[in-house]
Amino acid sequence: MLNFTFHNPTKVLFGKCTICQLAGEIPPGARVMVAFGAESARKYGVLDEVLRALAGFDVTEFGGIEANPEYDTLCSGIALAREKKIDFLLAVGGGSVIDGTKFMAAAIPFAGEPYQLMENKGAAIRQALPLGAVLTLPASGSEMNNRAIISRRAVNWKRAAMNDWFFPRFAVLDPTKTCTLPPMQTANGVVDTFVHVLEQYLTYPVQGKVQDRLAEGLLLLLIEEGPKALVEPENYDVRANLMWASTLGLNGLIGAGVPQDWAAHRAGYELTVLYGLDHARTLAVLVPAMLQVRAGGKKEKLLQYGERVWGISSGAEDVRITAAIEKTKAFFGSMGLPTSLSGCGIEKVDADRFIELLEEHGLTAMGERGEVTPAMMREILALCA
Ligand code: NZQ
Ligand code: ZN
Repeated sequence: MLNFTFHNPTKVLFGKCTICQLAGEIPPGARVMVAFGAESARKYGVLDEVLRALAGFDVTEFGGIEANPEYDTLCSGIALAREKKIDFLLAVGGGSVIDGTKFMAAAIPFAGEPYQLMENKGAAIRQALPLGAVLTLPASGSEMNNRAIISRRAVNWKRAAMNDWFFPRFAVLDPTKTCTLPPMQTANGVVDTFVHVLEQYLTYPVQGKVQDRLAEGLLLLLIEEGPKALVEPENYDVRANLMWASTLGLNGLIGAGVPQDWAAHRAGYELTVLYGLDHARTLAVLVPAMLQVRAGGKKEKLLQYGERVWGISSGAEDVRITAAIEKTKAFFGSMGLPTSLSGCGIEKVDADRFIELLEEHGLTAMGERGEVTPAMMREILALCA
């Protein structure tokens, strides 16, 4: 096992009716900005419930944060928060709202241009307003981690920043709030979580047995419960298990002390920039192709994954590896996600532009060993067609 430091300061309030505990988590007298998305929080009553729980606080609403939160939108929120002298931020939504709120929290007290905070993966962030999260879409893990992924369409970037100032003070996880998710978003959440686990598990062995068993447990849970959420969207136990799995999938626990990959995620951001694809859809397309091309470097873990997660224990090694990749692809498909670019409606891919974007963004040596070069990405992209 590799050396690691693990510190996660986010307090989790999990279960039914936990929104009513909000007030106790926010400093008395705080001026709170409640940030949310386009319409779901208002439409399904979560926003009202949050506002009722915050009775007595000075509250400013900031709605309209879109999927793949956009820099220009967030700049309006930053201006509003400064004008209202906000000193606490509360995100109500999925990964996009929470990530956008993290970025605003760091930008509000920052004297420079906000986009500078996203340079060098957020290394320059020195302070941020405190924030909390009420999660409505289990997927990103943002509610309990230190990452924010922001898009700036005008200059063709979607970037990740990681900084401990981004940890929410608390996360309210009420599974009943996820019953209104359309099947497509439920599926996106299951596949995104599955891939978060793969990015931290499917690399090379370092005797991180605790991490491996935790990861395999989460993968098995997603395979078991994910499809159930599509047929029984109101099943509380299914929603609760998926919600907790997605939080644990990317809160630092399973990735501590093991190598990590993240090439599919990074390349996926460029597919979102180019074609506007949902984050999880980029992963459902890229991951099977990437595993196929990179099978040699991931051989031991692919065999372990095949055996422990998919029960593939006999046959020649290459046959077992191919079967494990096929099972993964079929699982994404069974959740309703296309696993090819043509399935996403993209008939002709601009491979040159894709590679150019990767190079512009310095993504020329991705993966756990830095082995994913632009040439290899071209090969992977060809398999995604
Ligand atoms: O905007 P509204 O109307 O609220 O609708 C949203 C949005 O359209 C809807 N939604 C959310 N909760 C709902 C609901 N609809 C009905 N009922 C509910 N309870 O779902 C749509 C998608 O929401 P979004 O927040 O974009 O989804 P997700 O949570 O998948 O977040 C995706 C973003 O997170 C980033 C992605 O790159 C992408 O920008 N990620 C963040 C990570 C992190 N911070 O650690 C890691 C991830 O790998 C990921 O990259
Ligand atoms: Zn993801």
